[in-house]
Amino acid sequence: MVQKPKGTYDVIGEKGKEILYLEKLLTSLMEKYNYQYIRTPIFENSELFHRGVGETTDIVTKETYDFKDRSDRNMTLRPEGTAGVVRSFLENKMYATETFPSKNWYLGPMYRYERPQAGRFREFYQFGVEVFGADSAMMDAEVISIPVTFYKLLGLKGVKVKINTLGDNVSRENYHRALIQYFEPYIEDMCEDCKARFLKNPLRILDCKKDSHKDYMKSAPKIIDYLNSESKVFFENVCKYLDALEIDYEIDTSIVRGLDYYTHTVFEVEANIKGNACALCGGGRYNHLVENIGGPSTPGVGFALGFERLISVLEEENIELCSSKAVDVYVFANTLEENKEVFAFVQMLRMNGFSADTDYMDRKYKANFNRADRLGAKYIAIIGKEEVENHFVTFKDNQTKEEYHVHMENVISFLDERIEEEE
Ligand code: HAM
Repeated sequence: MVQKPKGTYDVIGEKGKEILYLEKLLTSLMEKYNYQYIRTPIFENSELFHRGVGETTDIVTKETYDFKDRSDRNMTLRPEGTAGVVRSFLENKMYATETFPSKNWYLGPMYRYERPQAGRFREFYQFGVEVFGADSAMMDAEVISIPVTFYKLLGLKGVKVKINTLGDNVSRENYHRALIQYFEPYIEDMCEDCKARFLKNPLRILDCKKDSHKDYMKSAPKIIDYLNSESKVFFENVCKYLDALEIDYEIDTSIVRGLDYYTHTVFEVEANIKGNACALCGGGRYNHLVENIGGPSTPGVGFALGFERLISVLEEENIELCSSKAVDVYVFANTLEENKEVFAFVQMLRMNGFSADTDYMDRKYKANFNRADRLGAKYIAIIGKEEVENHFVTFKDNQTKEEYHVHMENVISFLDERIEEEE
């Protein structure tokens, strides 16, 4: 039998309900924050990610799914959402038509050819936001507040917000020079990736998983000592606004992020999955990405969170997302003769806002009761010859087992009184 590709998974049964619940919660949260939904293609011209995500990142050098289309164009399955949203912002001239800040959210599959392990998949789902046009520390704090609020709504406890700043371009250049000077004596001891990073982007050495335990990494220069006063003030303001929202955070100078586009604020929210610290989400400010992709200078800030790691953490903390939603009414016919009436009745219930299901398999009377139980039906409705002739329906409350004969005209008000509307 052909099996699913390595690093992918199927969503089946109860998992589907959990995912839809998370998506609904995020959609409603985004309405409250007044962000608009944006959707971009799953594949883009490969060049976008080279320019956007960065030539020295692991994502671009080792992890993209690249292919040539039938007209020999280089295409890449998106490894993340930011580059595509920025491309769309430019291509649709949103910088000219939107009032700033332009606040956008997205949700969809991303693809990275990583070694599959706990919390790491080759196809995974991200929810993310990208905000354009506001060079304001308040905006960074708002973006950080989104995952924090979301995790809080879900009842997650063991999460830590870690923030850092990479400063503006001037601060970054100073820091870059300091890192080159510092790391030079250790080049021979570095892994092959870090040797390449040393020349192209020494900041990425700090994010190396292979070399992280080495002594020289511990005393590497810290960005905080190379920030100019504008960058310092910006970061202090981000912290001030986080304090205003009473968000608990920790300044962690080792957070540099795995993508090249960040300036100023970078952050991650960490949780523990099976004993390993794992980033539940990450993001930050990118004031030059729009320009680098070919647009007018426009500041940006955003973040993305992964669904898979979130679901693992929820499982680890024994948080049940939604009591599995049962059907309101299970309807069946007393004999095959009434199937047509039953079929129309089920549809009428659905059109009036109730969830309803029926028997498609010509089950026997008792088997229908078993089926109603399996579906968790609150009410069972039976339509037989007598019911059809006299325009009524026999309802059974599936908990109390009480029976009611309800005239067709009164069915909706009968159910309205007894079944609470669910969010
Ligand atoms: P990222 O840190 O690469 O950032 O990914 C964000 C989140 O996606 C991670 O924290 C993690 O939850 C999830 N994730 C990443 N890779 C995998 C994987 N292989 N399997 C499962 N989950 C994964 C970005 O993607 C940036 N675009 C975030 C951003 C938006 N920055 C500014 N705007």
